[in-house]
Amino acid sequence: MKVGGFLLYFYFLIFVYSNAAEPIPEIHIMDVIKTPDEMTAWSNRQISLNKTIALVPTMGCFHEGHLSLMRAAAVRADHVVTSLFVNPIQFGPNEDFATYPRTFVADKEGAEKSGVHVLFAPESSMLYPSAFRTNLSVTGLTKNLCGSSRPGHFDGVTTVVAKLFNIVKPHMAVFGQKDFQQLSVIRKMVRDLNWDIEIVGHPIVREPDGLAMSSRNTYLNTAERKSALCLFAALKFAQKSVKQGQLDAKVVIEETVKTINSVPLAEIEYISIVDDKTLLEQEKVTSCSVLALAVKFRETRLIDNGYLMG
Ligand code: PAJ
Repeated sequence: MKVGGFLLYFYFLIFVYSNAAEPIPEIHIMDVIKTPDEMTAWSNRQISLNKTIALVPTMGCFHEGHLSLMRAAAVRADHVVTSLFVNPIQFGPNEDFATYPRTFVADKEGAEKSGVHVLFAPESSMLYPSAFRTNLSVTGLTKNLCGSSRPGHFDGVTTVVAKLFNIVKPHMAVFGQKDFQQLSVIRKMVRDLNWDIEIVGHPIVREPDGLAMSSRNTYLNTAERKSALCLFAALKFAQKSVKQGQLDAKVVIEETVKTINSVPLAEIEYISIVDDKTLLEQEKVTSCSVLALAVKFRETRLIDNGYLMG
């Protein structure tokens, strides 16, 4: 009788667990790794166990945009590595490297909650010892947009991302479409160098009022924050204009410039309509047209982009 009761209870438990709607989340503790050698050793171990690795490169000061990249990585691979490194060589001499927000404790917590297994946070001297002499440059795609307003910026990005790929050995890497030109440049580098790494592009994550999330939004005061909405408003304005039949890129840009110029503090750095593959400026708007813009609010430079059709 007692054995029968026990068996019944046992079958009941199996029934409950096999019908659970949500899989029980795997609880994991995130590791923080500080040296390239330890990072590579960790990756080699996972690869020898046939585990897949997704890398999310970042410069920290995490917001929902970063965290959504990590969550997207977690559903695609067995392990997620997030690198946190404020890369000095991608900042120009008059840019914000020194003041770039560094929020390690909060970042660590955010990454762990978002399913990251390893936070790779090297010191600068670990990636760039004094004898470092290499520069990796993708030409063509880096000529216009942010490439012309931030000379050397993309060389800094591709050089550090190439190093991260070699150190972490990921099967895939996730990048945000917020940095539309950066994503194109990384895809090109991976194709040109025959890297067997899948590059995943993740949609732009926005604040409820439409401002694209960015670590640099923390620089904005109240007035600047209000004015910063003009990037998203400009994008919506241009999309509407195209929907109403305006396919002349020059006219769309002229009209959009006017809307931004009427906003206090907003100073346009560039606004362009480009082909999503070549990043070359277009005369006629097509389904491949992306409006890309960079606007400054005093010292703070913000970027945004979006397709003009659909
Ligand atoms: P960072 O600006 O920290 O951004 C890290 C990643 O988060 C990038 O792929 C970026 O496109 C993405 N991201 C930022 N804001 C986002 C948003 N609102 N929605 C979706 N994705 C967003 O980009 C860099 O760092 C660096 O250049 C790096 C690639 C790490 C090289 O140093």
